[in-house]
Amino acid sequence: MRTTPTGFASVCVFAFVCVLAAVFAAACQRPAETPPAHQPQFAPEVTIKDLMLNIIDTSADVVWLSVTTVASDKGLVETRPQNDEEWTKVRQGALTLAEAANLLMIPGRRVAPTDHKSEVPGIELEGEEMDALIAKDRAAWDKHARALYDAAMATYRAAEAKDADKVFELGESIEHACEGCHSTYWYPNEKIPELPQFPESPKPESPK
Ligand code: HEC
Repeated sequence: MRTTPTGFASVCVFAFVCVLAAVFAAACQRPAETPPAHQPQFAPEVTIKDLMLNIIDTSADVVWLSVTTVASDKGLVETRPQNDEEWTKVRQGALTLAEAANLLMIPGRRVAPTDHKSEVPGIELEGEEMDALIAKDRAAWDKHARALYDAAMATYRAAEAKDADKVFELGESIEHACEGCHSTYWYPNEKIPELPQFPESPKPESPK
């Protein structure tokens, strides 16, 4: 069979396209085996209750008690970190608190031991009820833990800068994060007592 000039040209184009395709295929080829993503094997044996009592509450106290103003019969008594050693303690407290917030996000951790009984039934939920509430929306739980992380890390930075006023101010953000989570998972049924109502002051008469 004779190859016409046009026939020859199309063979060339075809060959060229094949070479291009081969080059692209080689360039796009993924490594043959991508190893499965490594999953860390956490040991979430300690309950959330134990984290609260042994790490979170104690570290928060270190931060909260480092900068205080207390009224006494001698007038206002101000406490501020006085030296590097005392500032180190504040930094340690804040950093421990921040990392404890990460511990709260580790999946598979129970809120309380199985034999846990609510101290105020009907107001404070039982352990399993809290577990179920958390499992229903993990992202919401993590958001509460994250709020604690952010407040604690901001406090850590303020302690690095030895800014006592800022540490005090951020103490309130930390408390907000604690309370936000507690009122959602621990005692969601709590009724906030209403503020006493003062008799309304008479409104000024509107001009007729
Ligand atoms: C992401 C949620 C979350 C955050 C944030 C959080 N807590 Fe808790 N905390 C809980 C839950 C849930 C319980 C109920 C567990 C229990 O004690 O039965 C609890 C219980 C406690 C308890 C009672 C422990 C007991 O049973 O006697 C203390 C004290 C406590 N938290 C302190 C704090 C402090 C202080 C902060 C902030 C610095 C904080 N928590 C932030 C979820 C949270």
